[in-house]
Amino acid sequence: MATYTLNINGREYRADVAPDTPLLWVLRDHLGLVGTKYGCGIAACGACTVHLDGAAVRSCVLPVSSVESAKVTTIEGLSEKGDHPVQRAWDEVDVPQCGYCQAGQIMSAAALLRRNPNPNDEEIEQAMLGNLCRCGAYHRIRDAVKLAAKKS
Ligand code: FES
Ligand code: FES
Repeated sequence: MATYTLNINGREYRADVAPDTPLLWVLRDHLGLVGTKYGCGIAACGACTVHLDGAAVRSCVLPVSSVESAKVTTIEGLSEKGDHPVQRAWDEVDVPQCGYCQAGQIMSAAALLRRNPNPNDEEIEQAMLGNLCRCGAYHRIRDAVKLAAKKS
């Protein structure tokens, strides 16, 4: 066990955990930030996507010991009132079906638009490739990313 001080959503959190504990479990089990979801646990589905210094990462395979000096953003901290351009576009397009994959989808889309504010279809497809949706909401996800780019 070790004590880690983490910067998450602009706040400082402390967690007493083993160094190899995945960030996902620190977020969910130790800090109560359960917006980030567990899907596969092997970086294959994208449900656990958060931002590390603004870049999309899979928190299920990221040891907490490797993130201590970075700024973590989860879906809870993406915007104060749920009004990030991606969240507004998601709402307008009515993207979610069951909703399980959606936090990860939104975090990947937000990271894409941060580094590329006007992505083309191929760039959107490439950036969202690692986020699976069992409900098959892919068309609406793509439409919402495009709408969010216009809103940004
Ligand atoms: S739970 Fe992390 S990628 Fe699936
Ligand atoms: S909305 Fe159900 S898994 Fe994507």
